[in-house]
Amino acid sequence: MFVPELIRKKRDGGRLSQGEIEYLIEGYVKGDIPDYQMSAFLMAVYFRGMSYEETTALTLAMARSGEVVDLSAVDGVKVDKHSSGGIADTTTLVLIPLAASAGIKVAKMAGRGLGYTGGTIDKLESIKGFRTALTKEEFVNQVRSIGAAITEQSERLVPADKMLYSLRDVTATVESIPLIASSIMSKKLAGGADRILLDVKFGRGAFMKTYSDALELAKTMVAIGRVAGKEVVAYVTSMDQPLGLAIGNSLEVMEAAEVLKGRGHKDLKELCLEFAAEMALMAGIEKEPEKARRVMEENIENGKALEKFKEIIRAQGGDADVLEDYSKLPQAPFTRSLVAEEDCYIKDIDGLKLGLCSVRLGAGREKKGDDIDHSVGILLGGKAGDYLRKGQVYATVYASSRDKLAYGAKMVRESIAFSPTPVEKNKLVYARVTQEDLK
Ligand code: URA
Ligand code: CA
Repeated sequence: MFVPELIRKKRDGGRLSQGEIEYLIEGYVKGDIPDYQMSAFLMAVYFRGMSYEETTALTLAMARSGEVVDLSAVDGVKVDKHSSGGIADTTTLVLIPLAASAGIKVAKMAGRGLGYTGGTIDKLESIKGFRTALTKEEFVNQVRSIGAAITEQSERLVPADKMLYSLRDVTATVESIPLIASSIMSKKLAGGADRILLDVKFGRGAFMKTYSDALELAKTMVAIGRVAGKEVVAYVTSMDQPLGLAIGNSLEVMEAAEVLKGRGHKDLKELCLEFAAEMALMAGIEKEPEKARRVMEENIENGKALEKFKEIIRAQGGDADVLEDYSKLPQAPFTRSLVAEEDCYIKDIDGLKLGLCSVRLGAGREKKGDDIDHSVGILLGGKAGDYLRKGQVYATVYASSRDKLAYGAKMVRESIAFSPTPVEKNKLVYARVTQEDLK
């Protein structure tokens, strides 16, 4: 095969065969195909798109490029959950213990923050002693013994995605539905779970800006799952505003603990309950949606889910006391609370702006390899539609210096708009896509 011919074919809107796609991926991973040819190919895909068949072939070729996790030693149906990335999206931290408390086996490989979106592994590192890099044996054994484990995705998992993602990052080819779908799904397929729950976000604070793009991404990933023989359910949810109230690593651990104690913002809680119930149905542990939902609500009320989180933390070497005594989490030296100047409603919160602000405060990385500060971030006092009394705190900024505190306070003020009259609350779940919907 001649690489320029394959690039030309895609450039002119043609469809590549499975063999041609495998040839490109294998050649690129081996180093036989240079970055400049792969860059041209990615740009051709960006403009021309790919059919479901092509995207599936790309995903399978990528998934095979490295290590594949074998979870066969764990009995039962293993369900994975993945979010396409968001702001104040603490669902994974809540869901893992909540789902596990109901008997679902959760073998979770998680990532670090990407751009302005937070990452589960970064959040967990706020907990003193918590080991985020488990060996394969530790990972599998822990899922067998306590029903859940969380580890950082291995360096050897899907090397094709690591290479392609870095190249996409610098060639303006990240925002492509087939490229995002294959990037996410190749990692999910190599991760070894039987069923996959996806949360595809759209809006200001997400990679997908519009509902129709997010729906298309969701359908593409469900279609890939169908060919790969894995049941995939994809939700399309809004990420215009932050999902919960906390943005920042230790703040989000605290918020996860609050939700597991039956508190926390109702939007975050609602999405966690919805997803946990869906996972119970996917795992075959529950048959009725209402019953699945009730079990999850009960496990929050009776403390089982919080206890499971402590168990996971202890199993991974962390200090579980942080969930009861938040002062044991990293504390920022400087904080400032912003208060409502009069009685009002929160009209709008710009999630993207707050996400970027949290990265500048040090909660995320501005470039690869940057150290992050687990103590800093923003804690909101409410979301759009919520009512504030004069003098009530609507946001607190946590910073590592006075300068950063002033910067953070300014950005937060600019990100939030108020209204004297009631504001409609935003919708969370816009669609639920299953394999049935593709027919
Ligand atoms: N998340 C991924 O893993 N890959 C993408 O391309 C975008 C988001
Ligand atoms: Ca750390």
